[in-house]
Amino acid sequence: MKSQFVCQECGAIFPKWMGKCSECGSWNSLLEEVVDKKKVVASVIATEARPIKDIEISEDSRTSSGIGELDRVLGGGIVQGSLILVGGDPGIGKSTLLLQMAHHVAKEGRRVLYVSAEESPLQIKLRASRLEIEGRDILLLSETSLEKILPTIEKEKPDVLIMDSIQTLSTQNLSAAPGSVSQVREITSILMDLAKNKGIATFIVGHVTKSGTLAGPKVLEHMVDTVLYFEGDGSSVYRILRGVKNRFGSTNEVGLFHMTSLGLKEVDNPSEMFLSSTPSFEPGTVVFPSIEGTRPLLVEIQSLVSATNFASPRRMALGVDHNKLVLAIAILEKKRNLFLQNQDIYVNAVGGIQIGEPALTLPMMVSIASSLLDQALPKKMIILGEVGLLGEVRSVPQIEKRLLEAKRLGYERAMIPDSDVKVKGMRIDKVKHVDEVFSILFTK
Ligand code: TYD
Ligand code: MG
Repeated sequence: MKSQFVCQECGAIFPKWMGKCSECGSWNSLLEEVVDKKKVVASVIATEARPIKDIEISEDSRTSSGIGELDRVLGGGIVQGSLILVGGDPGIGKSTLLLQMAHHVAKEGRRVLYVSAEESPLQIKLRASRLEIEGRDILLLSETSLEKILPTIEKEKPDVLIMDSIQTLSTQNLSAAPGSVSQVREITSILMDLAKNKGIATFIVGHVTKSGTLAGPKVLEHMVDTVLYFEGDGSSVYRILRGVKNRFGSTNEVGLFHMTSLGLKEVDNPSEMFLSSTPSFEPGTVVFPSIEGTRPLLVEIQSLVSATNFASPRRMALGVDHNKLVLAIAILEKKRNLFLQNQDIYVNAVGGIQIGEPALTLPMMVSIASSLLDQALPKKMIILGEVGLLGEVRSVPQIEKRLLEAKRLGYERAMIPDSDVKVKGMRIDKVKHVDEVFSILFTK
């Protein structure tokens, strides 16, 4: 029997063992797996090629999941025959979301099969009763072996199939352990065949590993049609469902939920959800109107700058990019002569959201300076803008949309990059350089 070595980080395959993966550079990540070519793939159906013109767009190829925020991330509903990966940390709410979705979909008369390879039927029943889901129309199967699951899928012919989770399923085709890259890849490819041939919308749950990626990450991501990540910080009730890949809709759309004692609920007023309920106007606090997908969200950015005795001060970024933080600090030091080398700096985007937008640089810099100088910002003010290496403030997309949302929520002042945006009833400071920012906001 032939064996091969598969990198558990990136999925690369090698004929012999090596200490370091030459693809992704990770150490000690190669695992030996025996290849056995015997397969139980669903029957192969020969199909004919057709001109694009002749392909009809059927109206009902997309159905609502019954959860508005989920539909939004999926690009308008569940596409028949699509393969959707739902990733996230353990305990974030993946099973809860999918069970709630199963309930809505089944209520509409569609057949749903929920396969749990993780939890016993009793555990799922308990979750369902907590969510007040009777579950008369949801078929449940608690099984880990793919060979035992496939006949049930053939028999029940579900419209929607949920596989929870990919890491605990295994196929006898391979000797590798469940959760290994080869297993995950093999099972996904069998499920993909099934989804496409039988038109079953298949949701695959995947846990994120400690390094923050799905096990067998890239391999899986390119195979499936849609990749959704569930984000959120354990201490907060808010959950963000982010679309990072979608063959059937726009990416980078987000769905916003909060976890309650009755399961996940959609957020009514999303733009406010990341503002603390009692907004503080302490030094170090800045409100930043970010854009997530197509929606503006107001996020409170907090910084704490405190003197340290250690030779290398700490730079801690929570919810903001660490490299951008380091850059912001370097610009403050060089362009504004702020002395930060003996200061620990902590920056946090409140509420567990992750912000990757360049427009965050200016608010982050202002927040750090505000904490260092111990000077609070004017109340009801928002700040946005990208800052270049020379201290110039650059424009960012969709300024007007952000300002209008901030105004709706009662903000009266804004600091933005130089542009021709006007919003009635709002005092707007347009800035070209960080020097102007400082002369407007601080007395130093
Ligand atoms: P779960 O969906 O099991 O997470 P995952 O499948 O991503 O591992 O959700 C687990 C958490 O959600 C658990 O800590 C309990 C909490 N929870 C609620 O707060 N309310 C609820 O109604 C349910 C069902 C779960
Ligand atoms: Mg689960």
